[in-house]
Amino acid sequence: LAVGGNPMSGQRVLVTGHRGYIGSVLAPSLVRAGHEVVGLDTGYFDACTLIGDEIAVPTMSCDLRDVSAAHMSGIDAVVHLAALSNDPIGNLEPRWTRQINVEASVRLAQLARAAGVRRFVFSSSCIMYGMSEANVVDEMTPLNPRTEYARSKADAERAIAQLADERFAPTMLRNGTVYGLSPRMRLDTVFNSLIASAVAIGKVVVHGDGRPWRPVVHVQDVADAFRATLEAPPETVAGEIFNVGADHLNYRIIELARIVTDAMQGTELDVRDEPGVDQRTYRATFGKWAAAFPDFKWRWTPTDGAFELRDRLIRHPLTAALADSERWVRLRWLRRLLAEGRLDDDLRWTDVLAAP
Ligand SMILES: NC(=O)c1ccc[n+]([C@@H]2O[C@H](COP(=O)([O-])OP(=O)(O)OC[C@H]3O[C@@H](n4cnc5c(N)ncnc54)[C@H](O)[C@@H]3O)[C@@H](O)[C@H]2O)c1
Repeated sequence: LAVGGNPMSGQRVLVTGHRGYIGSVLAPSLVRAGHEVVGLDTGYFDACTLIGDEIAVPTMSCDLRDVSAAHMSGIDAVVHLAALSNDPIGNLEPRWTRQINVEASVRLAQLARAAGVRRFVFSSSCIMYGMSEANVVDEMTPLNPRTEYARSKADAERAIAQLADERFAPTMLRNGTVYGLSPRMRLDTVFNSLIASAVAIGKVVVHGDGRPWRPVVHVQDVADAFRATLEAPPETVAGEIFNVGADHLNYRIIELARIVTDAMQGTELDVRDEPGVDQRTYRATFGKWAAAFPDFKWRWTPTDGAFELRDRLIRHPLTAALADSERWVRLRWLRRLLAEGRLDDDLRWTDVLAAP
């Protein structure tokens, strides 16, 4: 059933990782746009819930490594978000990142193609450009993945792209660093962590000199971009890679920190120029996206996002609980589940009943 005259709405979409930070914003937004959404997630972060879900999406509780052809039944499109989603987790046990982010992700795409699924949107990352101080990176820039996580995204992209044919249209969306409010909150992405530190301790702590560049993008804009990709004419997106964001959304970390201190009066800027701090930097250009999606609007600015998150974090009892920030930091939360024996050394739930 097409909504609002949009012939591409009403697709039956499998969203993997729909219980994560981006997924718990994206899946409901697809439902609102008239798509029928089925989610698949193992629920690592179900207990990391900051605000309630607006729309409950039918859910298959399943490890990505166990997906089978049956999960593809009746599916028109796959949006693939499920992954171990940052560098620190990649370093925790590289084997897990390889298994989930590469092997299981490529297998998912193979199963989708074999089942006749037409569209496959892969959540990739600008992180794979690595250190690029001198240049602005576009989709043609040679990749320089420097971490297990970045390598996993680069390898998965390459393998999934090779599956493209006239019936199977994979699209790679290389997100910038995502910020903003989500039911399954993360405070370990750059801008979110600056805001959280301002709320919790009245200081915006910048590690390093603050000069590195980061393209940032609000989680709701990311959701809109994925939806636009799903609904675009196939010839616009089939086999294509897009940096997802806008040129005006490249900021130096110090600029992001100043946005937070401006939004939150009385907070202090604390630049700790320690040696050996992560100084990864990349500035991306988003001209390809702008050309393919000329009517697309990036609705959020970091200033709006800072106000949104500040208001929510101040109102929520999270302020006190921020001390217990393992809930909002993906690596620390997984470490806790491992330490409690709830996840085994394959990063699988030890007690299926204990899994959410
Ligand atoms: N958040 C960002 O800034 C950002 C930037 C660029 C790319 N991405 C990518 O976007 C995607 C979503 O990111 P996010 O921030 O929502 O991450 P997240 O960690 O909040 O969510 C990932 C979800 O995937 C699920 N998952 C992980 N391994 C699984 C497995 N083996 N089986 C089933 N489910 C599994 C988790 O339970 C979780 O719900 C990821 O692929 C990430 O690499 C995120």
